[in-house]
Amino acid sequence: MLRIALIGYGYWGPNLLRNFNALENVEVSLLVDSSTSRLDAAKVQFAGLNTSTNANDAFLSKEIDAVVVATPVFTHYILAKQALEHGKHVLVEKPLTDNSEHGIELIELAQKKNLTLMVDHTFLYAGAVQKMKVLTQDGTLGKLNYFDSTRINLGLIQQDVNVLWDLAPHDISVLGYLNAEVPVSVNATGVSHIHNGIENMAYLTVNYQSNFIAHFNCSWSSPVKIRLMLLGGSDKMIVFNDMEPSEKIKVYDTAHSVSTFEEKRQVLVDYRVGDVYVPKLSTTEPLKLMAEDFVHSILNKQVPVSNAAGGLRAVQILEAAQESIKKSGAEVKIKMA
Ligand SMILES: NC(=O)c1ccc[n+]([C@@H]2O[C@H](COP(=O)([O-])OP(=O)(O)OC[C@H]3O[C@@H](n4cnc5c(N)ncnc54)[C@H](O)[C@@H]3O)[C@@H](O)[C@H]2O)c1
Repeated sequence: MLRIALIGYGYWGPNLLRNFNALENVEVSLLVDSSTSRLDAAKVQFAGLNTSTNANDAFLSKEIDAVVVATPVFTHYILAKQALEHGKHVLVEKPLTDNSEHGIELIELAQKKNLTLMVDHTFLYAGAVQKMKVLTQDGTLGKLNYFDSTRINLGLIQQDVNVLWDLAPHDISVLGYLNAEVPVSVNATGVSHIHNGIENMAYLTVNYQSNFIAHFNCSWSSPVKIRLMLLGGSDKMIVFNDMEPSEKIKVYDTAHSVSTFEEKRQVLVDYRVGDVYVPKLSTTEPLKLMAEDFVHSILNKQVPVSNAAGGLRAVQILEAAQESIKKSGAEVKIKMA
């Protein structure tokens, strides 16, 4: 039995509480939120739940093995650090931290203390992404050429992070999961229409040593909700439309091949437009699989799918993007630990 404390019961915390509570080998022993009204709301649903407004109660309790941090991004580092220092395994909501130095420090601390540190990149556990992973690994797509994602809607404007830090971690984590190539640099542009300096629209391009390219379009200011990822290979291409209720992924047997005729200095492009097929996907709630992976990684001392190294990589890309936005889209190298 693993005893867990959850810190943060705002918008996302209830989903974590519901999923951890449903696991057989887990007991949510304590719920912490600085707001008593949030704790009252939880107690209505989960009678008998122990609660506190002070995170120290989770850190100091000998009964608690692991801490889940679901508070605003700027608090992730300090809460995760204190939990690790008190010998607790830690799951932090995405993004891991608000800067890469903090991320590196947490990873080193977890290693020193022999504790699991994991980040909740929920999408890695989605049936669609799991299927995309299989299709990239078994060679179905051929050589990967591009990743293109659009995540836009009339979104909740955050007070502490811009739209890239809020929305792009999902897509950046998927990109890192599907393509192991280490990215080199970014170009990003963004604007704030809210006059608080926090960008509500942003476009990010991630560049690689090879000719693979990734692009992200994130916005809190779109009248329509679009959740679309394209993954293009030399043989096939995948379209993942998360707004589709069932047929979320379509695999297109579409590609082009290029032949060059030296003498004529001509390039001939051949297009192949073949069948489209819709693979069957797992419908298990991704957050449930993520919670299981956290518990499994602790109990079996294994590296989780959504591990801290991937979390740090996402933070490093976001950090470079932030700098590029400040420099009006100039290319910025990604710091690598
Ligand atoms: N994985 C996902 O798909 C997903 C989705 C949404 C949000 N998130 C992440 O979850 C985290 C929380 O986001 P949210 O939208 O729920 O935020 P929120 O503001 O709705 O909730 C945060 C809660 O934390 C509490 N809190 C803040 N500081 C605290 C502290 N020091 N000690 C105790 N309680 C504290 C607040 O009272 C609030 O109830 C963020 O990191 C966000 O990026 C992840």
